[in-house]
Amino acid sequence: MSARTAQDAKTLARRYYTGQDVYDAETRNVFFDRWIYAGRASTISGPGSYFLCEIESESVIVLKDSDGEVRAHHNVCRHRGTRLLTEPEGQLPKSIQCPYHAWTYALDGTLIGAPFMDEVESFCADDYPLKSVSVAVWEGCVFISLAEEPEPFEQAFAPLMDKFGSWTMDELEIAHSISYDVPANWKLIFQNYSECYHCPSLHPALNKLTPFRNASNDLEEGPFLGGPMRMSIDGGSMTMSGQTCAPSLGDLSGEALNCVHYYTVYPNMLLSLLPDYVLIHRIERLAPDASRVICDWLFHPEAMAAPGFDPSGAIEFWSMTNEQDWGVSGLAQKGISSQAYTPGPYSELESMIAAWDREYLRSIGEG
Ligand code: FES
Ligand SMILES: [Fe+2]
Repeated sequence: MSARTAQDAKTLARRYYTGQDVYDAETRNVFFDRWIYAGRASTISGPGSYFLCEIESESVIVLKDSDGEVRAHHNVCRHRGTRLLTEPEGQLPKSIQCPYHAWTYALDGTLIGAPFMDEVESFCADDYPLKSVSVAVWEGCVFISLAEEPEPFEQAFAPLMDKFGSWTMDELEIAHSISYDVPANWKLIFQNYSECYHCPSLHPALNKLTPFRNASNDLEEGPFLGGPMRMSIDGGSMTMSGQTCAPSLGDLSGEALNCVHYYTVYPNMLLSLLPDYVLIHRIERLAPDASRVICDWLFHPEAMAAPGFDPSGAIEFWSMTNEQDWGVSGLAQKGISSQAYTPGPYSELESMIAAWDREYLRSIGEG
């Protein structure tokens, strides 16, 4: 299906994986500007339920307000700037109270209590709501943007907007989650995911279920890249046995039941759609040479409630594959950090990395 080639492209230079200046440019141009995947909406179930999304100096409170709407606020008190919430997730009462002087905010960010400020004649509480952060919910996934005026989400995500409806992703819930600290630059994790050249040597079990040459791409340029990969077992899935571990999702039919779909969603999400479940990797940068990857296994709540539900075959399969990928990503980071490293040539099986690198360079203003 893919006509795109690697076009004699080479790997990126060392400084992109080790330099603090590059890291800071990414912060400014990408992570403070683009739509960033923050987490699943299903983890904030009712009013006051929240989680924090931390991006470098910024901390954002993502919550459900009293109308059940998802909102995002800067985690910064409007009095003297104090960080309001420190627990990464939790349940608020009907309001958010600053631990310093007890200014209190409604869930929609309105300042509703400011002790003794009525003694200040010029003070008006309406002037000091929590600063809001742009938020969008797509397929049950919450995205935020720290940009003052972000590109409208529907425009930024136009290639994906209606692409995955058959999987009913918005209905799915997290059955299992693992957080990994990976000693590698975040880009190595994307690049690793973007090719199956390494599958025969690194993932013999995975390569048996999806022979590496079965990969194809239906998004080949831009912030979203990837496509379907034919499984060797008709009606199978990516599990230890190769068989599904839950009924097929939504209204999937035909060839979709014989394929896994893999997409990179720039700049911090990997989306793997299986016939019976969905896997999401959320990638956080920690330092030029360190990342955190949160891997969530999503299933339909009806499947999860059914007697005998057992996702262990899917969990074990990807735990094994994740460990293999993070291990080799750490080795790549080590080698790239050496003075002996110089950019090497991509194979034709790595054309999606070449496309990913182009988007990356454009995003930091170097493309
Ligand atoms: S800094 Fe928050 S109430 Fe004073
Ligand atoms: Fe891999």
